[in-house]
Amino acid sequence: MTPPRHTQVAVVGAGPAGLLLARLLHLSGIDCVVLESRDRTYVEQRQRAGILEQSTVDTLRRAGAASRLDREGLPHDGIELRFAGRRHRIDFPALTGGRRVWVHAQTEVVKDLIALQLKEGGPLLFEAPVRSVTGADTDRCTVHYTHEGRERTLTCDYVVGCDGYHGVVRHAVPEHARSVHERGYPYSWLGILAQAPPCYDELIYAHSERGFALASMRSPAVSRLYLQVPNGTDPATWPDERIWDELEARLGADGDWRLNRGPITQKSVLPMRSSVTEPLRYGRVLLAGDAAHIVPPTGAKGLNLAASDVTVLARAFAQLHETGSTELLDGYSDTCLRRVWRAEHFSYFMTTTLHTAPGQSSFDTRLQLSQLDRIATSRHAAAELAENYTGLPTGP
Ligand code: APR
Ligand code: PHB
Repeated sequence: MTPPRHTQVAVVGAGPAGLLLARLLHLSGIDCVVLESRDRTYVEQRQRAGILEQSTVDTLRRAGAASRLDREGLPHDGIELRFAGRRHRIDFPALTGGRRVWVHAQTEVVKDLIALQLKEGGPLLFEAPVRSVTGADTDRCTVHYTHEGRERTLTCDYVVGCDGYHGVVRHAVPEHARSVHERGYPYSWLGILAQAPPCYDELIYAHSERGFALASMRSPAVSRLYLQVPNGTDPATWPDERIWDELEARLGADGDWRLNRGPITQKSVLPMRSSVTEPLRYGRVLLAGDAAHIVPPTGAKGLNLAASDVTVLARAFAQLHETGSTELLDGYSDTCLRRVWRAEHFSYFMTTTLHTAPGQSSFDTRLQLSQLDRIATSRHAAAELAENYTGLPTGP
């Protein structure tokens, strides 16, 4: 198939942001082309997040992309915090007037969106890395990309960078027109997938002076677990037995609790960072998802922020398509940034409260334990965590 030379909206990146945006644009009758640098297998196998807020689930249902989610997704009404030998459950519905989250792997969302795009949507080109975007401040953008060994161009009315933290679209915005706000963390996560039934029916977030641990899941037979490790850790230095022993040491709130062990099928180290690029729009170029902002995964916000960005953006493009008005498009950046910064703060709060930084002082550890005790003993403090975790309403 000869790739198109022009489209209304060029979407760069076929992760959750780009694929969901393409689906929503298709449903609004807006032409778009998705350009993805990697191959389909790579994109579908990339292990990422696993928690969907209700608003994300609602958007996927409206997009006709939630049939497997509704069959296989696991609704969760709470999480457990473990600290100083204590266990405290955060009851989401009781604290938020009925809100919950869903456990469903990002890989499965991506697979279903790709299948829908290939079956019903506009062109989705894999192995089509975008080199650059020109004309951001004109009325006709040009995307320069490579596909099947040839340099190609795609002209469009708008370009949306859904190309993640290492993408190129943000560089179409001149440095004088953008600002980047960043924070690093002195630790990373070692994440594993294991053929072992989850050790608990909800997620467990554990503070420990040995370091943070998280017990999550993918299905009744597959566990997803994480350990705080030093930056630059080589996964090869963590044999399976060492991982299981350390997880047990950090998660074990008391003597009667044991992890279900099993073969570890995937092991990787992911760094932590907080980053926001402002604004999310420059002329005909817009940014969404990880291309615009990164959060540490402790708050389970990355996928949900991507979904909320493109939900707002799709509404804006639909308004433009139907009425010619750019009111929502002009407000896109401010609308999304308010929610982004709330998620950035919550992710920072969960990360710094639950992780033990290298060389952390005893004073800082007692501050963490005091904060966790406050959450365990104050309905207001617990409700603040529950409201943020289950997600605030998507913007207008
Ligand atoms: N040209 C085309 N595609 C590109 C380019 C490029 N120059 N650079 C990156 N990409 C692709 C990547 O291969 C990837 O498939 O853009 C996609 C970006 O997807 P994600 O990184 O998943 O970002 P996003 O869609 O915003 O989803 C955010 O993914 O990274 C997780 O934790 C994050 O859960 C969150 C979610
Ligand atoms: C996951 O299941 O991958 C997961 C869950 C909660 C988090 C981070 C990751 O905070």
